[in-house]
Amino acid sequence: MRKVLAIETSCDETSVSIVSNSHDIYTIHSNIVASQIEDHSKWGGVVPELAARKHLELIPFVLEKALEESKISIEDIDAIASTVTPGLVGCLRVGSITARTLCNLYSKPFLGIHHLEGHLSSILFSKHYPKAPFLTLLVSGGHTELIKVGKRREMQRLGRSYDDAAGEAFDKVGRLLGLSYPGGPAIEKVAKKGNSSKFSLPKCKISDKDGGFLKYDFSFSGLKTAVLRLVEKINRNGDELPIPDIAASFERVVAEVLVERTIKCAIDNGLENIVVVGGVAANDTLRKMMIGEAYKKSIKVHLAPLSLCTDNAAMIGAAALFRLKFSAHESSLKLGISGRLPIDQANVLYEKNPPF
Ligand code: KG4
Ligand code: ZN
Repeated sequence: MRKVLAIETSCDETSVSIVSNSHDIYTIHSNIVASQIEDHSKWGGVVPELAARKHLELIPFVLEKALEESKISIEDIDAIASTVTPGLVGCLRVGSITARTLCNLYSKPFLGIHHLEGHLSSILFSKHYPKAPFLTLLVSGGHTELIKVGKRREMQRLGRSYDDAAGEAFDKVGRLLGLSYPGGPAIEKVAKKGNSSKFSLPKCKISDKDGGFLKYDFSFSGLKTAVLRLVEKINRNGDELPIPDIAASFERVVAEVLVERTIKCAIDNGLENIVVVGGVAANDTLRKMMIGEAYKKSIKVHLAPLSLCTDNAAMIGAAALFRLKFSAHESSLKLGISGRLPIDQANVLYEKNPPF
């Protein structure tokens, strides 16, 4: 059994987890997530400086609790991992320095993990995760990407959002409707009482410079503007805002766009399995629609466990265990952090001379 202690601090969750794998079975021994949602909600979004300071305050206690709950001593850990990219730089730095300090103190190997590889590794904790190659729809607050994952974790981005990420659109529309932060769960809750066919909202596409549209890419900022115009029109008429109907119509169109383009991408690329991960993957409408539509095309859908959709350190640990199993590569202790790195370049995190 190989054991990893993992740290995630890329945005507004301070998380430490102890995970292990034995053959193909991945186990969570502890996964402590200290959410900062309350600290940021009064600002309507994450305040980077505040988030970094909160990580510094919380990390000693979250680390202690994760070790205590796992009943595994740090001496018995095989490697220590932390998210090093992409994310808020001040936040990433807290996790990365904590991890590398522990590696130095206890003479353990260090693995810097790409946050999106972490999200897609959350699927390893589900009972029947697919064998590669498969298509991953990664939908979070910062990213909307379609990634083809190969047998050795070769990752190829086949589609992406050109503007807002799907989660960002949920957050912005939530704010527009006066709902609490984050917008995703708040919209999902009120949408349950609404009529999703009440308003017709646009499914925005990106034009191809050679004519037509890009088939696997996304745009959500136009949709957000369409909701804004709708709200303005209703307000101008002096009518009461039908928040549940707007929320339900918005949620439906986001789910339809994500499902249609993901399934098209899987079919065109001959991929029989779709994996859905990231914060927005917690959305029930999206989960049900993806399963239903993919079934019609004989494609299997694998959804991240609900509790592991939003940011957590267990998924970072799973990515590290997978890397150790298939490539036995560790990162240099000189590896720093970076606000951005495309997922298909994640291998550079294991080079002897790190890029940052
Ligand atoms: O993966 P995540 O925790 O953080 C990033 O890496 O960005 O995703 C957070 C995002 C937020 O935008 C939040 O509104 C969205 O995921 N989200 C949801 C739901 N739960 C979280 N969106 C739609 N429906 C949900 N149930
Ligand atoms: Zn995330």
